[in-house]
Amino acid sequence: TLPIRIAPSILAADFARLGQEVRDVTEAGADWIHLDVMDGHFVPNISFGPDVIKSLRSYSKALFDCHLMIAPADPYLEAFAKAGCDSITVHAEAGVHLHRSLQTIRSLGKRTGVTLNPSTPLSVLENVLDDVDLILIMSVNPGFGGQKFIPAMADKIRAAKAMISDRPIELEVDGGVTTETAPAIIAAGANVLVAGSAIFKGAGVDDYRKTIDALRQKAEG
Ligand code: DX5
Ligand code: ZN
Repeated sequence: TLPIRIAPSILAADFARLGQEVRDVTEAGADWIHLDVMDGHFVPNISFGPDVIKSLRSYSKALFDCHLMIAPADPYLEAFAKAGCDSITVHAEAGVHLHRSLQTIRSLGKRTGVTLNPSTPLSVLENVLDDVDLILIMSVNPGFGGQKFIPAMADKIRAAKAMISDRPIELEVDGGVTTETAPAIIAAGANVLVAGSAIFKGAGVDDYRKTIDALRQKAEG
């Protein structure tokens, strides 16, 4: 089984001091930095793009986990790869050629990810399991931080874990992850926890470390 990874989402960070925020969560023990890219079209919010990510790259050696909430994604994959993303995750709903998007990400030398909105069935993954390094289960409707975990997603995580079987695919959960919801998410089979508001509601590196440690403790039991 893959290690537990805590992935703070900088969507909830202070955008005026983003470099320092990335440095602080890294120092506080983040395994991955989760980067939420929103286009105001696929989701009803706009965040940041590849130039911002590129300028953040020197602030952390942690894996840059890029969650693209944009449609179409294909014209921008190269820009996100060049910006320093280590994994690039596209929404299954963002285009009609998911397999092609995954091939493109692999050809750019990056880890591939697919994410599913809460209402999207796991069956869209059936024929791309060998092309995927990461599956991201949305446990809120994408677009905003600070929403509540949708309880029905626990069963979906369990089903995704069963579908993955013994493949070395990371199973990541995004939305409403807190120290309260983390145990059920991990029990269902996830190994990567994205947390935005739960971590960044704190003030500075000491608070961030407390939350990251608490999440890891809940996850590792
Ligand atoms: C939502 C984003 C999430 C979000 C999570 O569209 O994909 O990564 O930042 O925020 P919290 O942890 O506050 O639910
Ligand atoms: Zn996300």
